[in-house]
Amino acid sequence: MAKARSNFTCQSCGAVSQRWVGRCESCGAWNSITEESAVSGIGAQAARTAKKGRAFALEGLTGSSASPPRIMTGIGELDRVTGGGFVAGSVILLGGEPGIGKSTLLIQACAMLANQGRRVVYISGEEAVAQVRLRAERLGLASAPVQLAAETSVENIIATLSEGECPALVIIDSIQTMWTDAADSTPGTVTQVRCSAQALIRYAKTSGAAVILVGHVTKDGQIAGPRVVEHMVDAVVSFEGDGGHHFRILRSVKNRFGATDEIGVFEMTGRGLGEVTNPSAMFLSGRDVSAAGAAVFAGIEGTRPVLVEMQALVAPTSLGTPRRAVVGWDPARLSMVIAVLEAHAGLRLGQHDIYLSVAGGLRIGEPAADLAAAAALVSSLTGAVLPSDSVYFGELALSGSIRPVTHNALRLKEAAKLGFNSAVSPVSREAGDQPPLTVNSCTHIASLVADIAAAGAQKTRKKEQARPDYATQ
Ligand code: TYD
Ligand code: MG
Repeated sequence: MAKARSNFTCQSCGAVSQRWVGRCESCGAWNSITEESAVSGIGAQAARTAKKGRAFALEGLTGSSASPPRIMTGIGELDRVTGGGFVAGSVILLGGEPGIGKSTLLIQACAMLANQGRRVVYISGEEAVAQVRLRAERLGLASAPVQLAAETSVENIIATLSEGECPALVIIDSIQTMWTDAADSTPGTVTQVRCSAQALIRYAKTSGAAVILVGHVTKDGQIAGPRVVEHMVDAVVSFEGDGGHHFRILRSVKNRFGATDEIGVFEMTGRGLGEVTNPSAMFLSGRDVSAAGAAVFAGIEGTRPVLVEMQALVAPTSLGTPRRAVVGWDPARLSMVIAVLEAHAGLRLGQHDIYLSVAGGLRIGEPAADLAAAAALVSSLTGAVLPSDSVYFGELALSGSIRPVTHNALRLKEAAKLGFNSAVSPVSREAGDQPPLTVNSCTHIASLVADIAAAGAQKTRKKEQARPDYATQ
């Protein structure tokens, strides 16, 4: 009899090896390899019953295809992230840290749709029905006709869903708790997650129901389980937030039916997640305009302008190697900005600890934040307070010049809307109308540093003149 073969699969990246190893050779994760039956793997059945294929008709690019029907929840921030509502027959993977509010958001979306008269099914693999019900009661949604179940078998779920009217939306909370008979490894392993996701995706495509899979994330923020699930689904949305802050950001990472990097902003309240329709005002609230080391960055998240404060602290170090710490921005970009300031603006930062933080817990990925970060650093180093009614944006080149960025007009418009009077930005390539505020074009980092230092020196001089001279008394 042939010996039952088994593979050793990395639970973090899905790489397969022939023997057990302590550290995955592909992704470098420790202790992530588990033994899984090779026969149950994807493709095993196909290999056993390999037969000749059947030819199918090919089509051209031109042709009439109706735009996919969308299911709008009525939660504006959620609909914005999905690109105008869930697409029927599509699968969305929603990732996020435990306790961030995934289940809360989804039960709210379910209740909204159920109240519109659509069939909505919420399958929880983690919580008992009573727990889900209790949460809905706390949120004041208990009267919504959502269909609930606590179940983990994919076969049972699909059989249940196939009965009666096709649901508009199905929630699977979470994909890591699901298991299918098609694979005989334990629930939560890569093969199980992959096979369960595949079965549910097949169900969504054939039935036309929109399916949302909740995915856990690992310590470093990746969606746990194989990356391959991210490739299989139509959209990947991540729910982010800082434990210390009460607001949450829903970010579209991949979307086959809309723009990526679109964000939705929510606020966690005692009665669930509330929408934040004007995030700039929220990020800027409670700003200390008299402190040095803070610059307001006019950023773009997806298609929406967002104003946020970048704070820097530059302080002499007592350590051999100065500390560099960043919250909400790329540490590599901070190193680059520091290097450019040293090389092209004559600043000496080698003996200083540097801390940079994006206020409010937002994570910025845009290179346009370079100029705001540089302004905050220079302000903190020189002690010169930046004008409180000015915004900063622009990308820093390694040569020290400031490069134009996209959506110039949109950034200026948002800044003007929030009461800012001037902007320090690169010379725009976009031909447009008269800007709504004063634009101080900046072409090189050295001129920005000189301007800030000069303004600081002027202020100090004024202060000294105003102060009575005790030395002469
Ligand atoms: P939950 O949706 O269970 O998170 P996840 O499914 O992502 O693990 O959210 C749990 C957290 O949200 C919990 O720490 C309490 C908080 N919360 C509120 O602050 N207000 C509320 O109305 C609800 C329902 C939860
Ligand atoms: Mg949950």
